[in-house]
Amino acid sequence: MDRILVLDFGGQYNQLIARRVREQHVYAEVMSYDRITLSEIERSGYSGIIFTGGPKSVYEPSSPHCDTGILSLGIPIFGICYGAQLIAHMAGGQVAGASDSSEYGKTMLKTSGHPLFRDVPEKSICWMSHTDRVEALPPGFSAVGRTDCCSVAAMCDEKRRLYGVQFHPEVTHTEYGTKILRNFIFGICGCSGDWKMDDFIESSVERYRKELEGKKVLLALSGGVDSSVAAVLLNRAVGSSLQCVFVDHGLLRKNEGDYVENVIGGKLGVNVIRVNAQDRFLEKLRGVSDPEKKRHIIGEEFVRVFEETAGALGKAEILAQGTIYPDVIESGSGDSAKIKSHHNVGGLPERMGFSGIAEPLRDLFKDEVREVGLKLGIPRELVYRQPFPGPGLAVRVTGEVTKEKLDILREADAILREETDRTRPDPMPDQYFAVLADTRSVGVMGDARTYGYTVALRAVCTHDFMTAQWSRLPYDLLEKISTRITNEVRGVSRVVFDITSKPPATVEWE
Ligand code: XMP
Repeated sequence: MDRILVLDFGGQYNQLIARRVREQHVYAEVMSYDRITLSEIERSGYSGIIFTGGPKSVYEPSSPHCDTGILSLGIPIFGICYGAQLIAHMAGGQVAGASDSSEYGKTMLKTSGHPLFRDVPEKSICWMSHTDRVEALPPGFSAVGRTDCCSVAAMCDEKRRLYGVQFHPEVTHTEYGTKILRNFIFGICGCSGDWKMDDFIESSVERYRKELEGKKVLLALSGGVDSSVAAVLLNRAVGSSLQCVFVDHGLLRKNEGDYVENVIGGKLGVNVIRVNAQDRFLEKLRGVSDPEKKRHIIGEEFVRVFEETAGALGKAEILAQGTIYPDVIESGSGDSAKIKSHHNVGGLPERMGFSGIAEPLRDLFKDEVREVGLKLGIPRELVYRQPFPGPGLAVRVTGEVTKEKLDILREADAILREETDRTRPDPMPDQYFAVLADTRSVGVMGDARTYGYTVALRAVCTHDFMTAQWSRLPYDLLEKISTRITNEVRGVSRVVFDITSKPPATVEWE
């Protein structure tokens, strides 16, 4: 299998570069520039290396550099933005601040007929975002692309197979960006594009079958996409040696616990123990209304329940986790020892004396995890479910969490989701749910006065959940949801629609 190394110099698009390469069915891995040595790179047999962008200037003392010997390994290197400047600097060229002519945004790129630009028109739009630029080419290099501000928008040393571009081919604003990346990975590196999810599943199953042979493996199943896919994949490898513990804290959505148990445990045949710990969690949450305190209590109690259950099941050597690639590289460390704190299992390996960790999805991006999930036969409904916070409905019931409030919220939330899924507004919100406000208001039903809770409907459109727009749900849909909730859910006298974006609000109310 061909592999491309994406050497990370701290730029914002580094994960995106790896994804773009993988979309071409070539396996790419992101590695921080200071986490891999020259000899490791040499031994690893990479077909090509991409130097990413980065926020620094090559002359800054704290700027990230790598061993100059990398340029002489004979492996093709493609530098992007800072990566290109670094190649120029290491190879003896000159980089300068772009003074009054820093370029940002869509820019006209003029290229020659170089193989890097095969099937790219002589003039095309590229995305620039830089202050520094290559001012004097290093010996052996020639310029093969330019813009009005930048005489070296693309350069190459054909003999040593070193290439660099000042613009960002990985972002969609660069019209022929994919073509340029393809030209590098196929035309220059000679990759064959044979990396497929089926191969990934097959090789993972084989690997874990060998590695985990005769060992007992424990996995905390949350019902989310990642832990479910990890469970089903490992089940293929080790079957009943895998024991999944599904802690039902009573803060799940309507029918969710049964659904997860039936699909993963029933239909897909994974060894799942469901621990019904609803009362324990409610007891701990009694009288608590501070959101962070709720989160803390739920996290602590989760660990306690998991530990107790695991203890009763007998000693397991391996802890399996649904860690995915962004969890691993988000810290910028690429550190394999990082334990995902999500799902509240942080700290467990040390406390429970596991001798090893199995993370079968640690090389995959979210969309790849979904693809694997579908191929493993997990229903689309589960694989594409919207994100759900670890502390569950506890952070969607404002104020104290009680069974009464949770039951009301579950019903209202189920109606909102059912009607939204049925209507499928365009654009479809990325996350939509109900919140039970700790506020009662007066209503009238029949001839009687009511005094019930207020349900807030929340729906947002977002790419990354860091920022979000409130969704413009159609009035007819809102009316249907409101009517159904007030008619069907006892204890609710008012329904409101949250029209706040993030920022200033967060997606969740707590
Ligand atoms: P906020 O509310 O921070 O939410 O705008 C952004 C995304 O994160 C999810 N979220 C959580 N997920 N544990 C989680 O696993 C949490 O405590 C938590 N709080 C928020 C939220 O659902 C949204 O998708």
